[in-house]
Amino acid sequence: MNGVTVIDHPLVQHKLTIMRKKETSTASFRRLLREISTLLCYEVTRDLELTMERIETPIEAIDAPVLEGKKLVFASILRAGNGLLEGMLDLVPSARVAHIGVYRDHETLEAIEYYFKAPEDVSNRLVIVVDPMLATGNSSIASIEKLKERGAQNIRFLCLLAAPEGIRNFQEAHPDVPIYTASIDSHLNEKGYIVPGLGDAGDRMYGTK
Ligand code: URA
Repeated sequence: MNGVTVIDHPLVQHKLTIMRKKETSTASFRRLLREISTLLCYEVTRDLELTMERIETPIEAIDAPVLEGKKLVFASILRAGNGLLEGMLDLVPSARVAHIGVYRDHETLEAIEYYFKAPEDVSNRLVIVVDPMLATGNSSIASIEKLKERGAQNIRFLCLLAAPEGIRNFQEAHPDVPIYTASIDSHLNEKGYIVPGLGDAGDRMYGTK
């Protein structure tokens, strides 16, 4: 699908299958989410620009590659996005972090915003927005609108599962934002859940209902 990268690494797919199982415990789900987010982060940052820096090894001086430009921003859509954040920060500990709170009204499925905190200068940074589930797309669309209002121009969206309906809505609103996901599932059900999905990602990682 245009604009969507499906991360089909065997480790990602294996871990995702365990996460989908309804009998997987909260502790295992959380650990797997942290592990899988490290692998997803590896893929979403695969094409970052490098620049050469002069360094000295104990043996000799060389020009060696380092990441170019300003530090990345990881933008977590609360609360489930936080589950992806930790593994990503394991891999890129110097990244800046934004938190965006939008919740879905269970009746209307509309996104309602209640929190926004991001680094000042998002305009010249790569912003990787994370939310495990791209379902209707309402919350990610609204979150990215807020980031764009603050000047963000270079944005990627990373999720674990995506529904075709969510991808369609998302790409209509933000055709400039590439999507990275571990799976495109079948469809959304009448309650807005991804089918087959993995249930409510927030509930599964925090043991709530
Ligand atoms: N959010 C979830 O956590 N799960 C879904 O299936 C859809 C939205």
